[in-house]
Order: sequence, then structure tokens, then C-alpha cells
Amino acid sequence: MLAAWNTSEADEASDKASLLKGMILPEYDERGALLRPENFETRTFVGTSLGITYSTDPPAKGPGDFHNVYIQPEAFKYYVKYGEFPEKTLFVMTNSPASRKAGPDLINGRGHFAGKATGLEVSVKDSNRFDESWAYFLFKTAGPRRAAKALPTGTCYDCHAEHGADDNVFTQFYPVLEEARKKEKSK
Ligand code: HEC
Repeated sequence: MLAAWNTSEADEASDKASLLKGMILPEYDERGALLRPENFETRTFVGTSLGITYSTDPPAKGPGDFHNVYIQPEAFKYYVKYGEFPEKTLFVMTNSPASRKAGPDLINGRGHFAGKATGLEVSVKDSNRFDESWAYFLFKTAGPRRAAKALPTGTCYDCHAEHGADDNVFTQFYPVLEEARKKEKSK
């Protein structure tokens, strides 16, 4: 019995390791600040939102910003299979103003699209580095690749811990991820 149990544990560990093989990991500078993630656009997209802000004030104009959320494809598959985010999960959420393009491109005369991203909000799960496991960072998209220090817990972490549906993450807003997980569970 014991041998069989050990075997299945070993199988699971090796399955997890193989799911995570090749995952692009968070990169830090020598001071431990996170380098701005690059080429995240080719990662897996989990959801989008429009006009969600961290304050109750209405947007100055228009519907507010679009947020597009990306995760490493390996962490996506791992979550779908095991229902948890692996160590070194990195989320990027782009902040893009809702734009309108006047002229013939705007065929129906209304509607908005997500304009060029101006900022990135980033979260990383890295228990070896951060006491709370998750740490949060802000970057500008313009300019050279810079590193950013983790923000104080009161700035980002606390709201995520309190309101994020699963392990600090707002999975309740990521139907792409949630549906994939549901499908896997019903197999
Ligand atoms: C008052 C609550 C609140 C605060 C404070 C907050 N967030 Fe979030 N965060 C959210 C919500 C809600 C979402 C869901 C998606 C959205 O905003 O469009 C989210 C999503 C995210 C995501 C996508 C991954 C995930 O965890 O769902 C990242 C990355 C992120 N926030 C980074 C930050 C950073 C960096 C800060 C601090 C500068 C911060 N957040 C502060 C509420 C908050």
C-alpha cells in the first residue's frame, strides 16, 4: 500500500515538474528588484476588464481603462490541472486607456478598443523571497527596461488577500481560466 502511495506521489511530483518545464521565471536585479517583464504578450490571456479601478470615484472621462491579464502558459496549465498557482507564477495586467478611433474605421460610429498599454501591474508568487508569498509591482511601458521594488503590503497585497477569490488572485474575473479549470475537474 505504502509503496503504491509513494509511487503516485512521485508521479504527481514528476507531472508537476514536467508541466512547469521551460516556464519563463521572474527576473530580479542584484538588489532583489523585479525587472520589467518582457514579451508577456505571447503568454496566456485569462481575462479582461473595463473601468475597474481601486477607487469609487467615476473615471474622468469615457468608460475607464481596459485591463488585460496574462499568465505564463505553464502556470495556466498547472492551475487548470491542480487548482493552485505554482511558485514563480507571474501575472501581468496591462493598463490601456479605452480609445475611440474616429473616421471610417469606426464602422458603427460607437464603441471603444483597448489603446496602447501605458502601464503594467505585476504580481509574483515567490515564497522564497517574499514573506507573504505574493508581491506586487508597477511599471511604465515606455522607456528602457527598469526594475521595480515590491510595493508595501498595504498598497496592493491586502486588497488581493481580502477580495481575490483564489490565493490572492481575482480568478472571479478570469473566465478563461475558470472555465478551463471547471472542464478539467469534470473530466
Ligand atoms: C482595492 C483593491 C485592489 C488593490 C488595492 C490592488 N488591486 Fe490588483 N486587482 C484588483 C482587482 C479587482 C483585480 C481584477 C482585475 C482588474 O482589476 O481588472 C486586480 C488584478 C490585479 C492583477 C492581475 C492578477 C490578479 O491577482 O488577479 C495584478 C497583477 C494586480 N492586480 C496588481 C496590483 C498592484 C501592483 C497593486 C498595487 C499597486 C494592486 N493590484 C492593488 C484589486 C486591487
